[in-house]
Amino acid sequence: MQFGKKKVLNNINLEIPEGSVTAIVGPSGSGKTTLLRTLNLLQLPSDGSIAIDDAQIDAQHIERAKIKQIRTKSTMVFQQFNLFKNLTALENVMSPLVYNKKTKLNEARKTALAVLKDFGLEKIAAQYPVTLSGGQQQRVSIARAIVAKPKVVLFDEPTSALDPELVAGVLNAIAKLAEQDITMVIVTHEIEFARQIADQAIFVEDGEIVDQGVAKELLSTQGNGRIANFVNSLVNQGQIEVAGN
Ligand SMILES: Nc1ncnc2c1ncn2[C@@H]1O[C@H](COP(=O)(O)OP(=O)(O)O)[C@@H](O)[C@H]1O
Ligand SMILES: [Mg+2]
Repeated sequence: MQFGKKKVLNNINLEIPEGSVTAIVGPSGSGKTTLLRTLNLLQLPSDGSIAIDDAQIDAQHIERAKIKQIRTKSTMVFQQFNLFKNLTALENVMSPLVYNKKTKLNEARKTALAVLKDFGLEKIAAQYPVTLSGGQQQRVSIARAIVAKPKVVLFDEPTSALDPELVAGVLNAIAKLAEQDITMVIVTHEIEFARQIADQAIFVEDGEIVDQGVAKELLSTQGNGRIANFVNSLVNQGQIEVAGN
C-alpha cells in the first residue's frame, strides 16, 4: 500500500481465522490505521490481494462490484466515533439496515432498539450524538457497526479519544462482542485488555508485520521481542499497567 511514492504497508501477509480476535499493536505512524482501512477497502491496495469470506479482490483488477462486495463484509469503528450528527442514536444504529440492507423501517427500528438495549443504551436512543458522552457515542457506533451482522468488525483505537473514566465501559462492550462469533480486528494500546480478549496479536513497525503470535504469550513485558520492548515502553511512560505476566 503506498501514498504517492511513499510505501506505507509492505509485505503484509496476514490470515485471520473466522470468529477470532486479532489485536494489532505498534508505534504511532507504523501503518496500523492504513492496514485496517485497506482491509475495509477505504484505501485501495496498490499491490496484492484481499479476501474476506467468499469475496476476493486483486490490486491488479479492481472492480467496483468487488469493492462493494468486500465492503459489505466488514465495518469499522473509528477513534473519533464518526456518528451521523443529524441522526439520533437509534437512527444511527438503524442506518446500515435502512440504507445498505433496505430493511423496512419498522423492522430496522426493532432490531436497532434490541442492539441498543444489549449495550445498555435504550435510555439514550432518542438523543443526538452531541448530547452524549464520548463513551456513549462510541458504544452507539459499536452498535451501529454490528447491527447488520458483518463478518468482520475493525476497531481503530476505539478508546484512545475517551476520558479515562469512560474507557472501561467501551472495553466491556467490545469484550462482550468477543464472546460472540464475530471476527474482530482491534488496533489498541490497551495491552492488558488485548491480552485478555485477543486470540492472536500482531506487531506492526514501519509498515511491516514484524512479530505475530498467540496474544497471551506475545503481549507481555517479558522477553526480548519487539512487542515486549514496546509494552515496556508504554508501562514506563505510565500509559498502561500490565498485570501478572
Ligand atoms: N492519506 C494519507 N496520505 C499520505 N500519507 C499518509 C496518509 N495516511 C497515512 N499516511 C502515512 O502513512 C503512515 C502510516 O500511517 P497510519 O496508518 O495512520 O499509522 P498508525 O495508525 O500506525 O499511527 C504514516 O507515515 C502516515 O503519515
Ligand atoms: Mg492510527
